[in-house]
Amino acid sequence: MAKVLENQRITDDFYLMKVEEENNAEMGQFYMLRAWDKYPILSRPISVFDSDGKTVSFLYKIVGQGTEIFKGLEPGDEIKIDGPHGNGFPDANGKIALVGGGVGVAPLYLTAKRLKAANPDAVVDMYLGFSGEPMLVDRYEAVADSVTVNVGGFVTDDIDPTKYDVIMTCGPEIMMKVLYKKCVSVGAAAPLYVSMENRMACGIGACLVCTCKTSGGNKRACKDGPVMLGSEVFGNE
Ligand SMILES: Cc1cc2nc3c(=O)[nH]c(=O)nc-3n(C[C@H](O)[C@H](O)[C@H](O)COP(=O)(O)OP(=O)(O)OC[C@H]3O[C@@H](n4cnc5c(N)ncnc54)[C@H](O)[C@@H]3O)c2cc1C
Ligand code: FES
Repeated sequence: MAKVLENQRITDDFYLMKVEEENNAEMGQFYMLRAWDKYPILSRPISVFDSDGKTVSFLYKIVGQGTEIFKGLEPGDEIKIDGPHGNGFPDANGKIALVGGGVGVAPLYLTAKRLKAANPDAVVDMYLGFSGEPMLVDRYEAVADSVTVNVGGFVTDDIDPTKYDVIMTCGPEIMMKVLYKKCVSVGAAAPLYVSMENRMACGIGACLVCTCKTSGGNKRACKDGPVMLGSEVFGNE
């Protein structure tokens, strides 16, 4: 069990929870979270928003029973967190674009931070799309070279993929697919990495609930991903 240190309301829908946990979480990985005994039956997958090795933070949107329970946690309460799981975003250098939509902005904070720390000469531009109130923009600005915020429109309209060496994205599947198609149509040389947020049950590769079709056959988003190449996931569509 991990101790909740903070559980802060960010907007009406989003909360940021920090828990005490020794960890070696990498950018783009996730934990399975559980703050109840029997019901709901399944733990909930939530991306690592930030980590300093001794604590890990989660930015989560209230959508249902599980996240409603997370919202009620107070400092000092305990939560079961299992992870970190999955293959996250790869290291990269040069000119990098991070494109997030909705809850998909969550893993991009640590990603920008780690990319800049590992490669100080890298240029990290972020494109963040929100359907409602934008959030934590000042925190994203502190870890990236530029942050373009889109409210209520299509964040994929804001990026010129030909300007980048690598592009990484997380958000609704339709957004990531549109971005992939844009990269192809403008002839972008940059590889596009997509983080798949399929529904999950076990989170460790055993149940196949999260299976997605790729050009390399069926893959489990939790174990083989969640980060995969956009060409693998959307290349045949
Ligand atoms: C690898 C991974 C990382 C994730 N990271 C984050 C994160 O950092 N922050 C965050 O807020 N959420 C994240 N999610 C989504 C999060 O897991 C779900 O929102 C959560 O499980 C919902 O639980 P609930 O009990 O509140 O809602 P439920 O009662 O289970 O569902 C409520 C509604 O949300 C929908 N829903 C549930 N799970 C998903 C999903 N995976 N994708 C799309 N819709 C879903 C359901 O269809 C339903 O309409 C991630 C999911 C995955 C697979
Ligand atoms: S959630 Fe069980 S295999 Fe991925």
